[in-house]
Amino acid sequence: MAGRAKAQACADCHGAYGVSPHPGIPDLAGQKEMYLLKELMDFKFSAGVSNLARLGERNQTQMSHQMPSLTVDDMENLAAWFANQPCPRVEASADARKPAKVARCEACHGDDGRSNVHFVPTLAGQKERYLLTQLTMFEETGRGLFPTDPGALREHPLMGPHAADLTEPEMRALASWFAGRACR
Ligand code: HEC
Ligand code: HEC
Repeated sequence: MAGRAKAQACADCHGAYGVSPHPGIPDLAGQKEMYLLKELMDFKFSAGVSNLARLGERNQTQMSHQMPSLTVDDMENLAAWFANQPCPRVEASADARKPAKVARCEACHGDDGRSNVHFVPTLAGQKERYLLTQLTMFEETGRGLFPTDPGALREHPLMGPHAADLTEPEMRALASWFAGRACR
């Protein structure tokens, strides 16, 4: 597939087949294709430019540095390639306690965080630390605050309101629970 050659530029951080070796960097393998494409667009066009459609904004120093060399065709090919790689194997532990707020998340993110919606990411089996960072960013911007880290911004009109009232222990519990679900 056309994305394969370009994906070599992503391998150090996201792994050769989209399973990241770093706890703070997300897996891309098996993620929704349209979601991956949208995030790449956000990284490319959020930096310094207002997002007219207001469908979310995203900026992160390491990722944003990747974007100038990528064309829209490259982004489409990369999204398709990573979405078609096998997702990371996670054995869901049966005795994990399900946090109370999971039902709210499943309404959009699907049962156990396996999304059935093109623009909503799968959370199941994603890196725990990464999930917590993202929730923390949505919690801040959802409450209308500027990000603590100026190199990292994430805002989304659907996610923000659902993160704004979460406490830190709740976010930790949710990140841990979704990270421990099987991705398929
Ligand atoms: C220097 C390390 C680095 C490289 C190289 C890199 N990324 Fe990333 N990527 C990151 C980090 C860190 C994040 C998490 C950003 C955040 O916290 O918001 C990320 C996030 C992403 C996301 C969002 C995933 C999600 O679940 O929302 C996508 C999509 C992505 N990268 C695609 C790519 C592609 C495609 C390439 C190659 C062209 C690439 N990245 C190269 C570090 C990197
Ligand atoms: C109304 C629908 C909706 C609800 C409810 C919702 N989300 Fe989301 N969530 C989204 C959308 C849409 C995105 C993608 C945002 C974007 O495009 O940047 C997202 C993104 C995320 C991400 C980033 C994933 C990644 O790969 O970067 C995390 C983490 C997350 N949601 C966790 C949660 C949790 C935990 C809950 C429950 C407390 C929840 N969401 C409830 C719609 C929702």
